[in-house]
Amino acid sequence: MNEIAPLEQFSPDPVAEVCARAPVGLLAELTHRCPLQCPYCSNPLELDRVNTELTTAEWQDVMRQAAELGILQIHLSGGEPTLRKDLEDIVDVAAKAGLYTNLITAGVTLTEDRLKKLQDLGLDHVQLSIQDVDDANAERMSAYKGGLAKKREVGKWVRKLGMPLTINAPIHRFNIENLPNIIDFAVEMGAGRIEVANIQYYAWALKNRASLMPTRAQVIKSAEIVEEAKERLKGILVFDFVVPDYYAKTPKPCMGGWGRGVMNVTPQGKVLPCHASETIPGLIFDNVKDRRLADIWLNGQAFQKYRGTSWMKEPCRSCPRAEIDFGGCRCQAMAFTGDADNTDPACKFSPYHAAFVSAAEQESAEAAPPPFVYRRMGPIKATSDN
Ligand code: SF4
Ligand code: FES
Repeated sequence: MNEIAPLEQFSPDPVAEVCARAPVGLLAELTHRCPLQCPYCSNPLELDRVNTELTTAEWQDVMRQAAELGILQIHLSGGEPTLRKDLEDIVDVAAKAGLYTNLITAGVTLTEDRLKKLQDLGLDHVQLSIQDVDDANAERMSAYKGGLAKKREVGKWVRKLGMPLTINAPIHRFNIENLPNIIDFAVEMGAGRIEVANIQYYAWALKNRASLMPTRAQVIKSAEIVEEAKERLKGILVFDFVVPDYYAKTPKPCMGGWGRGVMNVTPQGKVLPCHASETIPGLIFDNVKDRRLADIWLNGQAFQKYRGTSWMKEPCRSCPRAEIDFGGCRCQAMAFTGDADNTDPACKFSPYHAAFVSAAEQESAEAAPPPFVYRRMGPIKATSDN
């Protein structure tokens, strides 16, 4: 599937040039706290507790350092970033530093007044996540009552304020059949962009792979639906289609290549090359409390480890796609093969590829998938309502 993905934005660069270049974006995970409990959560297995989160002043310093480093966009994320009472203070400093600010939110804890205030302080863009456009299914996926109705309101406020809106729709076997309605919802909300994001199975989502994996036929059909809608909605809605790795022949250039374009700061201040990279043993994650962001970007061990192509083993080392997909996803290689140095098993040249595809085919064919393991900050338990 990934062979059809547009790759122009990942045109190869010499490693030296990449190191000298600033990242485009920084994902600021302001908190891991979240009112929702989605089983496909992309946050790590170990969540940062509230008393370990960076202070307001520390986040503000991250914003200033990011601007100095040459970063252009700040994605204020979580968990649910609106649970930080000081979100306004962070947005204020980010905007004054000249950064483009994007709020990534589930919306359910936002008010119209607060959104207006954030806009007045310089918030540029809102990315609103949805679970489904069917109320009951949205509630089942998030374990949160009345979420969809609230999200509709939030979408309307965003557009009423004249702000650009992106709808983020994680896709899996329990909502993939509803994709046409999800696209219609984005149009109805006045969104300019939709992310049709097939679940990526690492961190928490990996626990629920057997529950959430769609069939190959469903995935092919969804790709056709996106292609048709892209044509029909040209000039109205832009599509980001994150294809499901498990049915791919070649992997995605995960993160646009390790240490090439983005960095991620966790609630407690650890700086990661990728939000799931804490699943990889042996990486050393520097903290913004101890080291400057620019120094971490250029010299941090975790950033250097898989930057460029020199770390690669065969088959990647001699592959013509090495500087196109950068060997795929390190976290997926770790999750499926037990070694992050391996080729992403989504690649047809990986010795693990057949087992990888077979896992997806077997799990998605299961008529009675296992119950979700919901994402909770407290004790974790499985429920049997799916
Ligand atoms: Fe990409 Fe490596 Fe597969 Fe080549 S062998 S397509 S570089 S993952
Ligand atoms: Fe970490 Fe792909 S999710 S490199």
